[in-house]
Amino acid sequence: MVARYARTACVALLVGCAGPQRVLDARGPGARSIAELWWVLLAMSVAVVVAITGLFLFAVWRARQRARDGVAATVDGTALVWIGGVAVPLALLMIALVYNFIVGRAAYPRAEPAGDALTIEVVGHQFWWEVRYPQHGITTANEIRMPAGESVRFLLTAPDVIHSFWVPQLHGKMDMIPGRQNTLWLQADEPGSFRGQCAEYCGMAHALMAFWVVAQPRDEFDGWLARRRSGATPPADTLARRGAAIYRASNCGQCHTTDGAAQPARTVAGPDLRDLASRSRLAAGRIPNDAANLGAWIRDPQRIKPGSHMPPTPLGEDDMRALLAYLLAL
Ligand code: CUA
Repeated sequence: MVARYARTACVALLVGCAGPQRVLDARGPGARSIAELWWVLLAMSVAVVVAITGLFLFAVWRARQRARDGVAATVDGTALVWIGGVAVPLALLMIALVYNFIVGRAAYPRAEPAGDALTIEVVGHQFWWEVRYPQHGITTANEIRMPAGESVRFLLTAPDVIHSFWVPQLHGKMDMIPGRQNTLWLQADEPGSFRGQCAEYCGMAHALMAFWVVAQPRDEFDGWLARRRSGATPPADTLARRGAAIYRASNCGQCHTTDGAAQPARTVAGPDLRDLASRSRLAAGRIPNDAANLGAWIRDPQRIKPGSHMPPTPLGEDDMRALLAYLLAL
């Protein structure tokens, strides 16, 4: 039993060191300042532990020596207690507190930097992420594209419950609170993909509420914006056209949109599907996006993501093939 708890504790401690969400493997200025803070606090803590252990061993050694020499201990420890037990810890904690405060203020600036930075609105839903580019009239989901090497303004909110937006390699957490808009500035040093995760318990599928931030070179990002702005193309072949009819008949459009029909954020129940085929993963980062997974997801979402609000859609083989042809051409 104890061994099992110890193993669980070790795993919990070590997950921060490996995998796609390495907190200390900072890839942007926000995460870097937090990692530096962590290393400095760790160094201070280690220095304190080493000093205390040294003093303890010294005391044991001297007590033994005195006992051997028959000398009575006559030390008055009052000064030691006041200095070592009160003054020094107080000073160290004050230093840590002030340093923490300075780093926190720099990492989460309250004043907005000048200039017209790219703004991305992210809305946390149970249990997926709506992603809007208000300056470009683009909406997508669960995959956030941004230019590398630029500071990007993220406006974060939620219509249902509190979620928390967290991309460990880029920055610290920021809560998404209903009725409130929080601002977070993210910057990725280099192009790359960074996994994000909801960091506030928000319901049954909370642990499965992930996303990816894809930082691209500016010209690639501009190309993506241009392609997304050009809008949806109507289904090309017969199979995809039949799929579009099945999509409408199956009431998918109650929660999703494939043609950008405007939905105010509060009534959005499911992701905008206009660029579904271009996304790398399905169900908020849960599974890779391919025809087999998309079919399984549509048939029985609960099996893939327990707690998902998406209802099952039992379709026959032919109908499913047509629907997939439609969706994966979007
Ligand atoms: Cu959303 Cu936890």
